Amino acid sequence: MQVEIHPTPESGSARAAEQIRGRLVEGFRLGVATGSTPLAVYAQLRDAHRRGELTLAGATAWALDEYVGLPRDHPQAYRNVLHAELVADDATGLSDARLHAPDGAHHDPRAAAREYEQAIGTGVDLQILGLGANGHIGFNEPIGSLRSQTHVGRLTPRTRQDNSRFFDDDIDQVPRECITQGLATIMRAHEIVLLAWGEHKAEAVAQMVEGPISARWPATVLQQHPRVWVYLDTASARDLTLTELYHHASA
Ligand code: F6R
Repeated sequence: MQVEIHPTPESGSARAAEQIRGRLVEGFRLGVATGSTPLAVYAQLRDAHRRGELTLAGATAWALDEYVGLPRDHPQAYRNVLHAELVADDATGLSDARLHAPDGAHHDPRAAAREYEQAIGTGVDLQILGLGANGHIGFNEPIGSLRSQTHVGRLTPRTRQDNSRFFDDDIDQVPRECITQGLATIMRAHEIVLLAWGEHKAEAVAQMVEGPISARWPATVLQQHPRVWVYLDTASARDLTLTELYHHASA
C-alpha cells in the first residue's frame, strides 16, 4: 500500500483526481464509489472537463454497489447519484449508456448480481473506494467472505444509520439489502484508490493499513493487492503508528 497523509480532504482529493486523470485512456474502465468521500474527486474531474483537460467520453464507469428495492427513479439509487455526479449536463463526457450499475430493482436481485459480476469480467482498470467506519468497502460488511463475488448483502444497522443522512435522517427509509461487488471482484481491479476522511474513520484506517487481514475488517484484504493508493487526511490517519513510513504531503 502507498499511504499519503494530507492536511485536508481537499488536498487529498486533488491528488487522487490528478492520479486518475493521468490514467485515463480510450476504453478506460473506471470503478466508482458513492457516499460522501469521493464527491470532491468527482468535482475535480468535472472542473477538469469544463476546462477541456479531460474527457470520460471513451471510458466506461462501473458502480461499486446499489441498494436493493428502491424504485429505479429514486434519487438515492446509486446509479442516479452517479448519473448526477458524472453524466448530467455533460459533467465529464461520460454518457448514460456507459455508466453501469447492478440492477437493484430487478425482480431477482441474485440474478442481477450474477449478471453484474459477469459484466465486470476481468475487472476495472482503476477502482475508487471509500471506507466504512466499520471497515467495509463496497457494502462488504464485517465477517463476510474475503473471496466473495458480486452478491446480495444485508446492510448492518451501523451502515443503515450512517446512510440515513441521505434518507431524511430516517433509518426506516434506508434499504436493508444491497447488491455489492464482492471483495474478490474489487481485488480484480488493476489499481485501487481508497480515500478516507475524518476521525470517525480512524479505527478502520488503522486496521486496514496496519492490522491483520481479517474478515472482521473487510478492507484489510487490500493488503494483498499490489497496487493500492490510500489517501488520508490527518484526522483519519490519527491511529496509525508507523508514521515515518508514510508520505506526508504538505498543503
Ligand atoms: C459507496 C460504498 C461505501 C462507502 C462507505 C463510506 O459506494 O460502497 O463503501 O464508500 O460507506 O461512505 P461515506 O463516503 O459516505 O463516508
